[in-house]
Amino acid sequence: MTQDELKALVGQAALHYVVPGEIVGVGTGSTVNKFIEALARMKDQIKGAVSSSEATTQRLKALGIPVFDCNEVGELSVYIDGADEIDAQGHMVKGGGAALTREKIVAAQSRQFVCIADESKLVKTLGAFPLPVEVIPMATARVMRQFGAMGGLAQIRQKDGHPLVTDNGQLIVDVTGLHIADPLAFETQVSQWPGVVTVGVFAHQKAHVCLLGTASGVKTLTF
Ligand code: A5P
Repeated sequence: MTQDELKALVGQAALHYVVPGEIVGVGTGSTVNKFIEALARMKDQIKGAVSSSEATTQRLKALGIPVFDCNEVGELSVYIDGADEIDAQGHMVKGGGAALTREKIVAAQSRQFVCIADESKLVKTLGAFPLPVEVIPMATARVMRQFGAMGGLAQIRQKDGHPLVTDNGQLIVDVTGLHIADPLAFETQVSQWPGVVTVGVFAHQKAHVCLLGTASGVKTLTF
C-alpha cells in the first residue's frame, strides 16, 4: 500500500469517532485532507466543524461543511488531526504544516484527540522530525540561541524565498538535533520562553487514540 493509500485508510476510519449531530474539530495536513473527503460524505449527519487553519477552513467550506469559530462553540467531543511524529504514549510533534497554534487550541477544547497517521510516524523518542515552534518575529534570534544552548540547530522556515508567515502573522522556527526524552517537561519549559507562541510538542494535549495505517490495515492504539 502506498503512503497515500494508508492516509486514506485512516482518514476513513476516523469517521467512526465523529458524533452525529455534533460539531467536530478538524486538524490540518495531507492525512486530515483524506478525513475531510470522507467527512463530506456524511456532512448531512453533522452540525459542522471547527477548523485548525485557513487551509482546512477553505477545504471544509468548499465541500459544503459549515465552519464554526472556536469562540461560538463549547467543548467538542472529538478533534481529529495528523502528526509528524507520535510516540508509544501518544505524545506528538506537530506543525509540519505550520498550523500548530490553532491545532493546539482546538485540541485543548476537545474531550478526545484522535490522531490519524501512517505507520512511518510512530517513533520511540520524539525529535528526529525538525521541531516546529511558532515565534513572534522580534524573539526569533533569542529563541534560536536558546535552542542552540540545548544542542539544537534552529532555522526560520522559508517559503518561496521568504520567511513563512503563519495564519496568526508569526514565524516558524524549525529545530533539528533534539532528543525529547521528557515531552511534558520540554513542552512546559519551552512554552514559557518569551516570544514563543506555541511549541510543536503536544504532550499536555496528547492523543487519546491513534489510528495507525499499516500494511495489514488500521491499528488502533489507545493511550
Ligand atoms: C500541521 O501543522 C501538522 O501538525 C500536521 O498535522 C502534521 O504535519 C501532519 O501532516 P501530514 O498529515 O501532511 O503528514
